[in-house]
Amino acid sequence: MKHLLSMCDLPKDDIYAILDMAESFQKGNGWSPPKATFAVNLFFEPSTRTRTSFEVAERKLGLDVVPFETAHSSILKGETLEDTIKTLEAIGVDVVVIRHKEERYYEALKDRVNAKLINAGDGCGQHPTQSLLDLYTIRQEFGGFSGLNITIIGDLSHSRVAKSNSEALSALGANVFYSGPREWFFGDAENYIDIDHAMEISDVVMLLRIQHERHENTSRLTAEEYHELYGLTLKREKRMKKGSIIMHPGPVNRDVEIAGRLVECNRSRIFRQMQNGVYTRMAVLRKILEK
Ligand code: CP
Repeated sequence: MKHLLSMCDLPKDDIYAILDMAESFQKGNGWSPPKATFAVNLFFEPSTRTRTSFEVAERKLGLDVVPFETAHSSILKGETLEDTIKTLEAIGVDVVVIRHKEERYYEALKDRVNAKLINAGDGCGQHPTQSLLDLYTIRQEFGGFSGLNITIIGDLSHSRVAKSNSEALSALGANVFYSGPREWFFGDAENYIDIDHAMEISDVVMLLRIQHERHENTSRLTAEEYHELYGLTLKREKRMKKGSIIMHPGPVNRDVEIAGRLVECNRSRIFRQMQNGVYTRMAVLRKILEK
């Protein structure tokens, strides 16, 4: 595997290999990368979870992490992303993790750079490592994917998490449903269900925040109205299936897409997802660096 750019081009065998490696890291097994392997994290959009968990994963593996602040780089002097990566390569960087607001920014780079690229989110496109950590969390809970009902709820059309997960979960045999405001639907409408129906049939209820930064117009609804119509309220949680779980990629907007008190409830796996992000990113780095 040269790069990890999208769940659309990650074969099932590679997905399972990454999940197995993540499990091995979680059990405390180690792996040593080739000596003097350098990684850099280029984040052109804000991030708390992805950036810090990549850095922790890199350090746990013993990679040398090169500090890089996009806001203080020569990109501000007109250097292109491609020239930035070629510069880092020339200096000795082996792995470049990138988050960028432009969808599919990596298409122009993937055959033109020698460094290994990991997409940490491209606009409304893909977020493959979030999807892998979500898959890891679901497998940890249910042992597999086949026949599970998973409903993704919220700002679907702007969500790279929804797109990456929808692709991967369907390929692995889960039944993926969607819910939320109709204007944010993507793809074909046959798997759209009412949120109250979702509570009754779903093994996994996956909430998404409203990505205001990607909206051209402000929402027609207040936060309270959105919560009542499309959010996981305290009342709705009571109607969830026995054994079902709540997931959310974060950041969470409490009392909008999910009642604040449910973030830490027994069904919630939100903080476990974050812990699993470190093991999963260690596994991705190993997969990409192993000969
Ligand atoms: N889930 C996720 O991508 O979170 P951050 O934006 O904080 O990295």
